Amino acid sequence: MSRHVIVTGANRGIGRAIAEAFVAQGDTVSTIYRGGDLPEGVDGAIADVTDTDAVNAAFDQLEERHGRVRVLVANAGVTKDGLLMRMSDEDFERVVDVNLTGTFRCVRRAVNSMLRERFGRIVLVGSVVGLMGNPGQVNYSSSKAALVGMARSITREVGARGITANVIAPGFITTAMTAELPEATVKQYEATIPAKRFGAVEEVAAAATYLGSDAAGYVSGAVLPVDGGLGMGH
Ligand SMILES: NC(=O)c1ccc[n+]([C@@H]2O[C@H](COP(=O)([O-])OP(=O)(O)OC[C@H]3O[C@@H](n4cnc5c(N)ncnc54)[C@H](OP(=O)(O)O)[C@@H]3O)[C@@H](O)[C@H]2O)c1
Repeated sequence: MSRHVIVTGANRGIGRAIAEAFVAQGDTVSTIYRGGDLPEGVDGAIADVTDTDAVNAAFDQLEERHGRVRVLVANAGVTKDGLLMRMSDEDFERVVDVNLTGTFRCVRRAVNSMLRERFGRIVLVGSVVGLMGNPGQVNYSSSKAALVGMARSITREVGARGITANVIAPGFITTAMTAELPEATVKQYEATIPAKRFGAVEEVAAAATYLGSDAAGYVSGAVLPVDGGLGMGH
């Protein structure tokens, strides 16, 4: 049976690859996104994840068209890097509002449907830097670390109702987000990654389809690294 999968931010990058992977395996896939073109076979509703009413309205629209959501991949995220001493409240709060509170808004609405279905797969896109830290990313790493607590609290709250919640922790993946890095920084990062390369979006998508699968029903509260070994032991 085709399941309704919602991926936030499927217009580009990792979210796009995740949406495509769910489409390829026969799921009904939709996205909550801010604009841009969508992959073949992916329906969309416009919302900014920082706007609770817009998120709820987008879920309503998509569920009316495709049935209750069974899999949520909370992928939308931003960076606004800067050294701690120079980071403004606005730059800290903006990143937390999108990456953490935005994820919370989507999860809260999705769980409402999943409880009725007595089935749900929640996949949160975290980051290796949420576990290891990174200079210049106090805002970003804080927002991503918090997703681990979120997944584990959801697991304890609704784990008995057929709902799982897990975090994927990608390392450095080739997308627009990492394209902003200076070449010297890329070389420096590559040297520290045991796989000696950045990852591909399809490699993150493979982890998302696994954690979103019916077969992953006994995996919850886990953090699955997709980082070429960068974060081992964290
Ligand atoms: N690339 C990496 O190396 C890497 C590593 C670890 C974790 N991650 C995480 O993976 C996820 C995807 O990253 P990416 O590399 O694919 O980045 P990306 O290419 O910059 O894509 C980010 C996506 O999030 C959406 N988004 C941002 N703010 C939003 C908002 N307020 N409301 C709704 N959607 C919003 C963007 O929409 P617009 O197109 O409208 O901006 C876009 O679809 C993020 O959570 C990121 O933190 C990435």
